[in-house]
Amino acid sequence: MLTVAPYIQAGVLTLAWVAFTVWCYRTVIARRIEARQHSDARTVVAFASESGSAEALSLQLVDILRSQGAKVLHQPLNQVTPDRLSQCRSLFVIASTYGEGDAPDNGRFFIPSLKKTLAIYPELGFSILGLGDTTYEHFCGFSYDINTVLLERDAQVLAPLVAVDRNDPETIASWFTQLADAGVIHPDQLNSIEFSDKAPVNPQYPLRFKGRRHLNSGSPGAPIYEVTLDVRNQFSWQAGDIIQLHLQGQIREYSIASIPEESELTLLIREQNHPDGSPGLGSGWLCHQAMVNDTVGASVRCNPSFHCSADAEKLILIGNGSGLAGLRAHLKVRDMSGQHDNWLIFGERSPLFDRHWDKQLTEWYDSEHLTYLNRSYSRADSLELASVTGEASRGYVQDVVSEHSDRLKRWINAGATILVCGSRDGMAQDLEHQLGSILGSEKLEALTAEGRYRRDVY
Ligand SMILES: Cc1cc2nc3c(=O)[nH]c(=O)nc-3n(C[C@H](O)[C@H](O)[C@H](O)COP(=O)(O)OP(=O)(O)OC[C@H]3O[C@@H](n4cnc5c(N)ncnc54)[C@H](O)[C@@H]3O)c2cc1C
Ligand SMILES: Cc1cc2nc3c(=O)[nH]c(=O)nc-3n(C[C@H](O)[C@H](O)[C@H](O)COP(=O)(O)O)c2cc1C
Repeated sequence: MLTVAPYIQAGVLTLAWVAFTVWCYRTVIARRIEARQHSDARTVVAFASESGSAEALSLQLVDILRSQGAKVLHQPLNQVTPDRLSQCRSLFVIASTYGEGDAPDNGRFFIPSLKKTLAIYPELGFSILGLGDTTYEHFCGFSYDINTVLLERDAQVLAPLVAVDRNDPETIASWFTQLADAGVIHPDQLNSIEFSDKAPVNPQYPLRFKGRRHLNSGSPGAPIYEVTLDVRNQFSWQAGDIIQLHLQGQIREYSIASIPEESELTLLIREQNHPDGSPGLGSGWLCHQAMVNDTVGASVRCNPSFHCSADAEKLILIGNGSGLAGLRAHLKVRDMSGQHDNWLIFGERSPLFDRHWDKQLTEWYDSEHLTYLNRSYSRADSLELASVTGEASRGYVQDVVSEHSDRLKRWINAGATILVCGSRDGMAQDLEHQLGSILGSEKLEALTAEGRYRRDVY
């Protein structure tokens, strides 16, 4: 008998997906419209942020300045080009720091692009609010670097840099007070602002622990586990999104490896221990402590900077270790939508023991969902490499890219998008250096601006 129920279900799911997509991209769309409307603004408020605190604070400043009648352009720091700076008279930067004193992804091209020119900006006034955490060695390192480079270019300090430890509201307020003292904002505005020491929080759902599987027994590296959590249709997400697990008042973020159609959340977790051998808070719970049916509070962090356009014809997916998680979600979506021009470059240590999801990758290679499958292993001999499906080599992902530079250029010229997921310092930095030397750093910046070079690195 013909029934309409499946069609209604499919319709509801499609509507939910469309609504979620629009919701995810709402700020991107609004920002494009706004950038056009305010393109001649002499005041720029720029942010460099990953989990949203710096961006949220920058919006508060924008609201204040606009309520005073100023024309203000609000942009990610990457978009503040040397040309923009020469038109600009006041620049306010709110920036967090990642890695070891590094820029968040949406700010990492600012200093290199400034350093490519000899321009000076004596007519530019600036002030920086740095967000960071004193437990890291390079506290607010990126903000101090921006400060140095702007001073080197003769820009004038409107109010001195303020470095904030873990979103401390009083320190944040002191920067706004300095802006009022400098005549940038009206002192009356200070009473109306509220600062929170909490990063923006997304709705929380209870997730049930379903199980774990040790994937690299015998590996010279730390154990890595596939972990599954029961979503029970409580929320949706897109390939590229991050799950935030709330454990003992702290948040740990993990790249989601599955897609909603799989009805469960799959993660790839590297076990981490403290120097005294005690287990890490998040990885310890996921890899060892959680029992079946234990629950954990979780939120989805929509992560547009690692989403991929549905009409990207070719994808080059590059990652290492647990970074295979974020790449797998994209490959799964493309498998379902019949988009098979995919080149996976994955790095690990041992070809004998570190073959996470080897069965799935082999199937995808055999069925030509993966046009190329390159796996590189830092500890391997040729006999071990011979046992790996696809192309296997000794070394790191950046070596694969270098060895196949002609193929890389061909794919990029044919419109390919590059997705990178995994270690920020151990892999993404060296890879970026290699990509820059093959394609040229300007091309890499252009690819980033076009959304064709995207990263989820940590
Ligand atoms: C966007 C994003 C995506 C991520 N995706 C993944 C993923 O897919 N898979 C994955 O496995 N991880 C991922 N991570 C990393 C993950 O969020 C956690 O950082 C990781 O699991 C370690 O957290 P933990 O709570 O287990 O360890 P923690 O308890 O936070 O300890 C972490 C490490 O810090 C060091 N440390 C802690 N305390 C001290 C101390 N007092 N002195 C010296 N060193 C100390 C130790 O070396 C320890 O190993 C991601 C991170 C981000 C930001
Ligand atoms: C993986 C990671 C690395 C970090 N590295 C640094 C660092 O080197 N120096 C620092 O001051 N803060 C560091 N931080 C702290 C962030 O800068 C801080 O949490 C900031 O408030 C985040 O702002 P955002 O929400 O705008 O991204 C790091 C945080 C994370 C999660």
